[in-house]
Amino acid sequence: MSTSPLENLPHQTNEILATIQAFTSLEELLEAEAATIGKRSIFSSLQRSLGALEPDARRDAGSQLQEARRLVEVAFASRREELARLARDVTLAEDRLELGDVVVSSVRWPVAAGHPGLIATTQRQLEDVFVAMGFNVSEGPEVESDWYNFEALNIPPAHPARGLWDTFYVELGDPETVVLRTHTSPTQIHQMEEAVRTNSLPIHAVMPGRCFRRDTPDARHLATFHQIEGLVVDRGLSFADLAGVIETFTRAYFGADISSRLRPGFFPFTEPSAEFEITCTICRGEGCRTCSQTGWIELGGCGMLDPAVFEAVGIDSDEWSGFAFGFGIDRCAQMRHHIADMRALTENDVRFLRQFS
Ligand code: DAH
Repeated sequence: MSTSPLENLPHQTNEILATIQAFTSLEELLEAEAATIGKRSIFSSLQRSLGALEPDARRDAGSQLQEARRLVEVAFASRREELARLARDVTLAEDRLELGDVVVSSVRWPVAAGHPGLIATTQRQLEDVFVAMGFNVSEGPEVESDWYNFEALNIPPAHPARGLWDTFYVELGDPETVVLRTHTSPTQIHQMEEAVRTNSLPIHAVMPGRCFRRDTPDARHLATFHQIEGLVVDRGLSFADLAGVIETFTRAYFGADISSRLRPGFFPFTEPSAEFEITCTICRGEGCRTCSQTGWIELGGCGMLDPAVFEAVGIDSDEWSGFAFGFGIDRCAQMRHHIADMRALTENDVRFLRQFS
């Protein structure tokens, strides 16, 4: 009995089927399919070799070959489909919109609203404290004449104290010259003029607002900053009333463990004058770098109104007495929130701003 040319067919078929399953690239699978069942494939040459067989044997071998070929064709077709589906899935995954894509291109409701900045919030809180103590709140112009910013406050043109509030002048020494106000103290003059005009003394008022100096910004100073000015004009006021207001405010705004102290100072528009300091909020009075180991931080100035100022606005200093104070709103925010560098307030970095929403 001669050996059948299909002797190895079952083995060969199994090998081909295993190989088909192992393909992961559709292109390579198609190439292998052409080589396996196409014109010059192993199946074609086996088919040709059957011609030498006896008719009966040829018929049996023919159907055996047909069966093997059918198995292989089915295996190729199903692997082809599998690989095509996998390729489609990958494309879909690549095209899928990620959450980040949607955020930048569509509106998400509710739309995040902005919020007042730290300085605005601090100003409101300071106003609230003073309103609770019986003060009114008002504002004055940010652009002043030399007279309001200096002269009516007993700071004549050549006075060395001008150096404290140095600024840009349009024409130095001209009482009408215009300056961006360098402190909120000129609002005292506006308040007193108004009260004289409308015959409405006494005055209990605070005046918050923006101020400007030609300072170079550093960790504790900004060229554009904010102050809140306080003015009380009444009968029989003493330095003790001023100290009481400052201490009450300090504890109300900063907390019961923070207190105030007044140190002798000089301001041309008050006599006596004092520097107003509070317990350092960073070290709670222990002494640290921020307060130069003193345990105290300067917040502003204050004092009893100088008779020269009363005279400038036409108030009789024999009948009326007064005190005033002024301090930095930005400095209050810095102390309350432990902000190491004040310049962070103007840099518009949302990561910083968001903390105060
Ligand atoms: N205006 C002063 C400044 O900017 C602060 C100040 C000192 C205000 C004494 C006052 C005061 O009302 O009485 O440095």
